[in-house]
Amino acid sequence: MPENQQGIFKIHTLNHISSHGLSRFPIDCYQVSNDMTEPDAILVRSHNMLNQEIPASVKAIGRAGAGTNNIPVQAMSSRGIPVFNTPGANANAVKELVIASLFLAARNLVPALQFVESLQGDDAALNKQAEDGKKHFSGIELPGRTLGIIGLGEIGRLVANTAIRLGMKVVGYDPKITVESAWSLSAEVRKAHSMEDLLRHSEFISVHVPLLDSTHHLINDKTIRLMKHNVMLLNFSRSAIVDEEAVLAGIAANKIKAYVSDFPSQKLQHQKGVITLPHLGASTQEAEENCAVMVVDQLMDYLQNGNITHTVNFPDIQMERESPYRVAVANANVPNILGQISTSMANAGLNIHNMINKSRGEMAFTLVDVDSPVPQHVVDEIAAIAGVLMARYLPLPR
Ligand code: MLT
Repeated sequence: MPENQQGIFKIHTLNHISSHGLSRFPIDCYQVSNDMTEPDAILVRSHNMLNQEIPASVKAIGRAGAGTNNIPVQAMSSRGIPVFNTPGANANAVKELVIASLFLAARNLVPALQFVESLQGDDAALNKQAEDGKKHFSGIELPGRTLGIIGLGEIGRLVANTAIRLGMKVVGYDPKITVESAWSLSAEVRKAHSMEDLLRHSEFISVHVPLLDSTHHLINDKTIRLMKHNVMLLNFSRSAIVDEEAVLAGIAANKIKAYVSDFPSQKLQHQKGVITLPHLGASTQEAEENCAVMVVDQLMDYLQNGNITHTVNFPDIQMERESPYRVAVANANVPNILGQISTSMANAGLNIHNMINKSRGEMAFTLVDVDSPVPQHVVDEIAAIAGVLMARYLPLPR
């Protein structure tokens, strides 16, 4: 049953979210708006929430996309608020733009288009200038060329497999590759022994890692020095993964022939060899729908059942409902929380029917189903246990 006073869950959207997703919220128990106070959850795409006050009413944040660098994840963790994302839901869209960008760069399509736009005269004059000028835009073909892919998550591995089908040689580097990604990667992708190995052997390099402290300026002066001459560098991950100053110096030194980035900046504007797009990677109808559907389903399952699928700060945890009376607890991963939760329940005469606890790093999450209704004072007592970050009572509607 919805737990706020209005009897409905309130969802605040900070960006446009596809109606395919939003229409999944049942209208009898969800209110969705881009103008709302005291929301139960926030739905966001790229809106920057880093300096925004997050109301105390918020129980979850859903990001319709993979990256969460626009959300204050650490602060949310300390409040027991899961930050959901949608890994994979837009991966095909990003992959398609990366592949398009390989062609953009290899065939000099942007300067060629600009050249044609600049021509003047009648058709005969245009054709003559075009034929005379086309030698400046002669490109290269992809088969046989080596593409280095840094990061073989959902997007990196799709790019790798497609590039192999285009006849490219692919070398991949990802020290944290998951078993699932490794299984679905073409056997023709060569595993780089190190970043240096990848950088030294690639003619095209595409970065597919999240923005973390450890990946900030992953591509910098030092790494660019290791690259071949005339390399084509692609960044569809996040702007700050690549040091723009270093890239511009690399272009001036003929190390980098083209830099294609999905993240415009003043520094990159009007620079020779640079192509920037307006963060278009995930902007397809299909990806926007997929992300919205996935994040809405995840949010609803969390708000109503406490189940967690795909967050960046809590463990995945799901428990079938065998009782209508459930308590969900977000807690620090420290000893004796479970003992104290069950003592509070036992003291109130509650019989635990089923229970699950999962942890991830410093965070843990617990679901407890009991055989009879849980009085509010028990939930308050659990919420007051040292180390408990959030406790919610989630009874099923009668
Ligand atoms: C992502 O992180 O998946 C993309 O930035 C999504 C988007 O463009 O909204």
